[in-house]
Amino acid sequence: MPSRSRTRLRLAGVLAAVLVAAGVATGPAAQAHEKKPATLADLAQRHGRYFGSATDNPELTDTAYTRILGHEFDMITPGNGMKWYATEPQQGVFDFSQGDEIVNLARANHQKVRAHTLVWHSQLPGWLTSREWTADELRAVLKKHIQTEVRHYRGKVYAWDVVNEAFNEDGTYRETIFYKTLGPGYIADALRWAHQADPKAKLYLNDYNVEAIGPKSDAYYRLVKELKAQGVPLHGFGLQAHLALQYGYPTTLEDNLRRFARLGLDTALTEVDVRMLLPATEEKLAQQADWYRDMTEACLAVRRCVGITVWDYTDKYSWIPAFFPGQGAALPWDEQLAPKPAYHAIREALRAPR
Ligand code: XIL
Repeated sequence: MPSRSRTRLRLAGVLAAVLVAAGVATGPAAQAHEKKPATLADLAQRHGRYFGSATDNPELTDTAYTRILGHEFDMITPGNGMKWYATEPQQGVFDFSQGDEIVNLARANHQKVRAHTLVWHSQLPGWLTSREWTADELRAVLKKHIQTEVRHYRGKVYAWDVVNEAFNEDGTYRETIFYKTLGPGYIADALRWAHQADPKAKLYLNDYNVEAIGPKSDAYYRLVKELKAQGVPLHGFGLQAHLALQYGYPTTLEDNLRRFARLGLDTALTEVDVRMLLPATEEKLAQQADWYRDMTEACLAVRRCVGITVWDYTDKYSWIPAFFPGQGAALPWDEQLAPKPAYHAIREALRAPR
């Protein structure tokens, strides 16, 4: 053995002796102890699922935040950066800088991207909403928007929320600018255009209050059947799952996921949060944890439920307090980035063998 190696060995021995004397364990047990605990992504992957989080560009300067974002999840969704107002702020002038920043971050962290969203009545640019369009004009505008954006991210994203929030609570079509001008066929058109632009991306319809079986999810069930019968490219149904403790848990979630799977679709919980009336109490946080556990179990119970995304992971950056005044504490990490009971409940659900 060369003498330098021997010196090194001796030094290692001395170091170990010092550590032992100081009460610091050094053997295999210590190594096992130091082994990093499995992340939500690791645990989900054991079931062939992903575990994701939304994020947003302004938060990315918070390094304590990005450390957890990059570590704990294997799927990322831009909370705003890929929406129409951000990506086509003037007609025909595209800006993908915000989405790109998030796609690049995801790539650096070996994460996939659920892209969100192409056709939605909300967060549209002023140039689009402030004038009247003929059907031909709007169809051309919509096609160009979809195809330019999907082409830009071709090969870089796993899935697209192609149409977001197309139905009212009673299962009638939401009277959006697209529906009013183009009729219900805009949905099939949007899916076909997106598919042409990226034939490998999974294409989703996505909505809230569709977790339970009821008029709104029934409307999707019927629409999916029709679209499938017509051979329209559609691969998934996204259930946002913005739940609120005061409105009760959607107990038919698992059955609902299963009926969409039977139509040949993937499903995903795409924007999960569980808000509560503030202040948060220990009791409410425990109930919230139960709901996160139940949702996770429901997804794991249905083979084609491919993954879960929380709508950001920390209360520090949740959209809830701004949109539902007096409510909040909706996510599995608190405002100090400390895991809440919900985080541990998700882990427990993911740890259970299946
Ligand atoms: C929210 C964002 O999180 C907020 O930052 C933004 O101000 C409004 O939109 N359903 C959706 C998401 O599909 O796009 C919404 O995201 C939350 C509700």
